[in-house]
Amino acid sequence: MKFAVIGHPIKHSLSPLMHHANFNALQTDDEYAALHIDPKHFHHLRDIIHEKAIDGFNITIPYKVDMLQVVDVVDIKAQMIGAINTVHIEDGIWYGYNTDGAGFKASIEKYTGGKNIVVLGAGGASRAICYTLFKDNKVTVLNRNTNRVADWPFQIDAYTYEESDGVIQQADIVINTTPVGMEGFMPDTLIDISQLKSSAVVCDIIYTPDKTPILQSAAQRGLSVINGLDMFVNQGALSYGIWTGKKANKAAMKQSVINYLQRSTLC
Ligand code: ATR
Repeated sequence: MKFAVIGHPIKHSLSPLMHHANFNALQTDDEYAALHIDPKHFHHLRDIIHEKAIDGFNITIPYKVDMLQVVDVVDIKAQMIGAINTVHIEDGIWYGYNTDGAGFKASIEKYTGGKNIVVLGAGGASRAICYTLFKDNKVTVLNRNTNRVADWPFQIDAYTYEESDGVIQQADIVINTTPVGMEGFMPDTLIDISQLKSSAVVCDIIYTPDKTPILQSAAQRGLSVINGLDMFVNQGALSYGIWTGKKANKAAMKQSVINYLQRSTLC
């Protein structure tokens, strides 16, 4: 079968490498390409995909929200999350899904259930994560602008960072979905890590670098930390399941990304 990831830019995507590691492990001759779609060609997407005989594809920045208007059928989770990261084409019908939230949830499964979860940021990634966690946990968003959660089709409490003291102290899990602390930003962690419980788990959806500034601060305090690598692997494995009905080899997928990242830091 033929698969792809579409985006703009796309050349740094590790999805082709990761999916081919899965195909090798499963000994299939499936293919997965990185497809650059210039914004001025996005309205031709259906023709482009049809011409290449692609059976299913992933979507990355900046098209996840726009895809809602392109597919024929939107899965309920993708609708609630307001974004599509996986399209499956069957008999010419385009079905849109979102595996980002479920991918993240799977990566922290053993820590969740009845927990106080604090999500930093209220963008697309935050919405996917909040939607998948809010039914089984108490989820609170912290963001500069609390209005951003007002149009989500599910109810989440939101506070500004200035209002966050009590919230931080009660948190079992903190998840950073903002770019704060990354290159080009001040080395800020948005919240005071010293206020967290010693049992708190701190997560970031980023995996390059493998420890973002918030994870570094948390690790220095001896807290458990989780980066976004498992989320990335899980969302890919879930997409593969949607396309083929088969179980992906997640260990092979994860190892391929780790190997690549190790090689690139050695260069
Ligand atoms: P994504 O789709 O990856 O989640 P996004 O929609 O651009 O990206 O959302 C980024 C989030 O990071 C937003 O919640 C943004 O906060 P605002 O809603 O207040 O803009 C947050 N963010 C970005 N830069 C930030 C900064 N310097 N300080 C605090 N939050 C920041």
